[in-house]
Amino acid sequence: MTAGKVTVVDHPLVQHKLTLMRDVNTPTGQFRQLMREVSFLLAYEVCREFDTERVPIQTPLEAIQGIKLKGKKTCIITVMRAGNGLLDGMLDLIPSARVGHVGLYRDHKTLEAVKYYLKFPSQMKERVCITVDPMLATGNSAIEAVRQVKIAGATRIIFMCLLASPEGIKNFEMTHPDVPIYTAAIDRELNELGYILPGLGDAGDRMFGTK
Ligand code: URA
Repeated sequence: MTAGKVTVVDHPLVQHKLTLMRDVNTPTGQFRQLMREVSFLLAYEVCREFDTERVPIQTPLEAIQGIKLKGKKTCIITVMRAGNGLLDGMLDLIPSARVGHVGLYRDHKTLEAVKYYLKFPSQMKERVCITVDPMLATGNSAIEAVRQVKIAGATRIIFMCLLASPEGIKNFEMTHPDVPIYTAAIDRELNELGYILPGLGDAGDRMFGTK
């Protein structure tokens, strides 16, 4: 299902796993494993955006024009720390991908994203850059992360998350209308603390067993 530049991956398996993740009784280890499985499935849909090219190959029986991915290796950019939970599943699917890191934390008073770390692979301009963070809440972190990815030279960027709020999508699209969003669901709203409702709580805390 695609609405504008937002794709909601409404595959039954994704929705089943997401429901398990929302459940407050799901323990840390299972939550982490589910995050890995859902990220694999979401990334599979994101890969539809990739360009391909025809290449001549020889099967054991005859010569054909096969299809391969075109261009430089994909770059996955994880927005630390919660984005790291999406990384392993994506690397299961795209093992040769390069990985960039954007370190951001949320100032709990202003809800603004504050940068503390940046590291990107070379030749960002030539790569499809998939920026990942599980929760598109206010949009501030995603907006800042993608801004940094653009400063690093990337021109083909996709944003992938697990849950999005309507407010976050609106904010994100105002700043980065050129960046498509992939998510498993769009929830109802944000609360006054910037948490997504009904949501799944703090994704980082649930994944890493912190409070
Ligand atoms: N970050 C989270 O981990 N959860 C939310 O609901 C919002 C932001």
